[in-house]
Amino acid sequence: MKKNIPNNRKSLKAITLKMRKDNPLPVPDSKPQNSFRAVVKVPGTSANCGPGFDCLGLATTIYNYLDLTLLRANKIIVESKGTGYESIPHGRKNLAWQAVRRLLQTVGREDEFKGAIIRMKNNVPISRGLGSSSTAIVAGLTAANEILGSPLDKNGLLKLATEIEGHPDNVAPAIFGGFTVSVMDKGEVQTFSFQPRIKLKLVVAVPEFELSTRLARKVLPKNISMKDAIFNVSRASMLIAALVEGREEFLPIAFDDALHQPYRKKLVPGMSEVFTAARKAGALGAAISGAGSCLIAFTTAQSQLENKIASAMVETFKIYNVQSSALILDVDKHGAQIIGH
Ligand code: HSE
Repeated sequence: MKKNIPNNRKSLKAITLKMRKDNPLPVPDSKPQNSFRAVVKVPGTSANCGPGFDCLGLATTIYNYLDLTLLRANKIIVESKGTGYESIPHGRKNLAWQAVRRLLQTVGREDEFKGAIIRMKNNVPISRGLGSSSTAIVAGLTAANEILGSPLDKNGLLKLATEIEGHPDNVAPAIFGGFTVSVMDKGEVQTFSFQPRIKLKLVVAVPEFELSTRLARKVLPKNISMKDAIFNVSRASMLIAALVEGREEFLPIAFDDALHQPYRKKLVPGMSEVFTAARKAGALGAAISGAGSCLIAFTTAQSQLENKIASAMVETFKIYNVQSSALILDVDKHGAQIIGH
């Protein structure tokens, strides 16, 4: 098998052309009185960050947009544009509507607003481990909460979003931005969010194939060894400490994992080789993004190695017959934001 990774100008150009441009919804800039409308921008996210299975996450600078108008009438109109628009359910099965409905029920307003017009503009790839379902949940909750005069704070939104999604590691960064550490304690979620003191660049190789989180969880063992538990606890702790203190020199040992990636390797052809290629091109570390299929590599903005790393990842995937495109992203600082009414 071919081992050398081509890194010529042509492949670099092709990858750079595929880099994501943000593509927002047009929104009015003034807030009409008694408006039942809110427009929200929600970041895609990357969960786990290597060793932090089901608890670490980060927000990225790729965004989905949702324009919500609550209706008193009992009808749902959903329009979707952008990435994967054809697979987004319209009508009451729409995930954003389910989140809106959940918020209305929670604050006791479900008899007042029975329907909605939902316009979505999506840039986050679907079923690739970049938190696309979380963006729909967080967008629906955030927009409905804004229209109703903010009865819930961000922690209230996090609680509902976690109940809908089933785990907090994507919804938390989608709400708060930055890096997040989330803990489930007796059914309640606690999230700590912070901005890392290292300016990271995220290089994401997005394979053409989708991977369902359910399948990616099915391949995991029920029990793990004490050795593997220690491997991950130590690295996850080191990762957070290094990011909080700005100690880049510790990152090369902090992104590895023994709890989920070794078992998911068979679902993402070439995974270990893409990680190795990313590191050889200068990445500080690499991991599966969420439950996959995307692979994410971490570098610093200062090093300016992101294009080289992207090229190495895409070209290595090719060796394993996986077509992919690269996204070069930053860490989003804000989480979900209201951008219009
Ligand atoms: N932490 C989850 C998993 C992914 O790895 O299965 C969250 O989307």
